[in-house]
Amino acid sequence: MMVALRGASPLLVLFLAAFLSPPHCAQDPAMVHYIYQRFQVLEQGLEKCTQATRAYIQDFQEFSKNISILLGRCQTHTSEYKSAVDSLAMRVERAQREIDYLEYLREADICIESEEKTLAEKILQEAEEEKKIRALLNASCDNMLMGIKSLKIVKKTMDPDGSWMKDAGSNSAKVYFLIGSRNNTVWEFANLRVFTEDSTKPAPRKLILPLSWQGSGQVIYKGFLFFHNQGTSNEIIKYNLQKKTVEDRMLLPGGAGRAPVYQHSLSTYIDLAVDEHGLWAIHSGPGIQGHLVLTKIEPGTLGVEHSWDTPCRSHDAEASFLVCGVLYVVYSAGGQGPHRITCVYDPLGTVREEHLPNLFFPRRPRSHSMIHYNPRDKQLYAWNEGNQIIYKLQTKKRLPLQ
Ligand SMILES: *[C@@H]1O[C@H](CO)[C@@H](O)[C@H](O)[C@H]1NC(C)=O
Ligand SMILES: *[C@@H]1O[C@H](CO)[C@@H](O)[C@H](O)[C@H]1NC(C)=O
Ligand SMILES: *[C@@H]1O[C@H](CO)[C@@H](O)[C@H](O)[C@H]1NC(C)=O
Repeated sequence: MMVALRGASPLLVLFLAAFLSPPHCAQDPAMVHYIYQRFQVLEQGLEKCTQATRAYIQDFQEFSKNISILLGRCQTHTSEYKSAVDSLAMRVERAQREIDYLEYLREADICIESEEKTLAEKILQEAEEEKKIRALLNASCDNMLMGIKSLKIVKKTMDPDGSWMKDAGSNSAKVYFLIGSRNNTVWEFANLRVFTEDSTKPAPRKLILPLSWQGSGQVIYKGFLFFHNQGTSNEIIKYNLQKKTVEDRMLLPGGAGRAPVYQHSLSTYIDLAVDEHGLWAIHSGPGIQGHLVLTKIEPGTLGVEHSWDTPCRSHDAEASFLVCGVLYVVYSAGGQGPHRITCVYDPLGTVREEHLPNLFFPRRPRSHSMIHYNPRDKQLYAWNEGNQIIYKLQTKKRLPLQ
């Protein structure tokens, strides 16, 4: 285009000169000169534009060359990968065929072997399980219950249901008082004397929980209140008594909370307990209908450590507690008494009913709302017909573990 223009401009000047001929001849050369200059300026502008365009085109060509080089490299890589994947697939296929063939050759042998293996594995698993349970229940604690020594009525109230206790995992002297089978108010007394004398000095501390409890199976363990959350079938709340906050919560598995634990304590669906080994839950389960299930809970993480279906029935039961890893269930015919421990369950199998004497409680007109063992002072805290009771126990050393 530039070349064409450059050639054309003198012609254009001549043409214009001819066209702009007389009448004013004296002015003509000046006019032509002016037009010529204008064209030169235009021409220079066009020249600059063309140079820039050329530079762009060159750049563009270089760029497209660069791209095509990169694309070329990509393609070689792709084809390399493709062939590698193909050969790998082929090798896998070949290996599979070889395995199939070997399996075909040894099918009968393998069958027998695997049956033997499962049996061996099962025995091994059971042994492991037993070891685990023994380690779990291996606190330095080997006493078993021989009798109820005495009864002491500590306080009298009107409420048929409720629970009271000390911290079963610390040496704190504080006494906690939870009235009723559904409430969110916990009373904290400085010590047993203040609780007993009903004195107003010092006044008990009143704690309002953010959630209500259900039943009378609560326990206090190492500064935490553990309770069955009312309105849920199986949720256990861990409440920090110092900070007054919910620390953690868990769902007790295995059909817990679908039915009352004891026939004569109908508001308790999950009964918690503490002994020398730590925290436990006693509840109904999916196993044998109407039998108690015992679950060991890790109080720090609220994980389930183990669960046992016990032979102890819910029928005619009113309460239970654990001493040294052994569950003692209290029964009373028709809820009237006498109150007697007639079912004992030891996960390790060292304590059985035939080892025990007759375990009668002192005569009470009605069944207990709760009976909890405290491994610190080794006595029972109970609630019976509105009375807060302490039972002192007689124990003896049990047979050592084999
Ligand atoms: C093309 O690649 C060369 C070297 O790889 C680089 O110096 C040049 O700037 C690239 N050109 C463009 C337009 O990307
Ligand atoms: C129980 O603990 C004691 C020491 O604390 C240990 O010597 C013993 O081996 C443990 N037994 C089991 C079955 O784990
Ligand atoms: C909860 O307990 C407090 C005292 O401990 C009592 O005043 C209140 O009436 C109880 N609430 C219910 C719903 O029973």
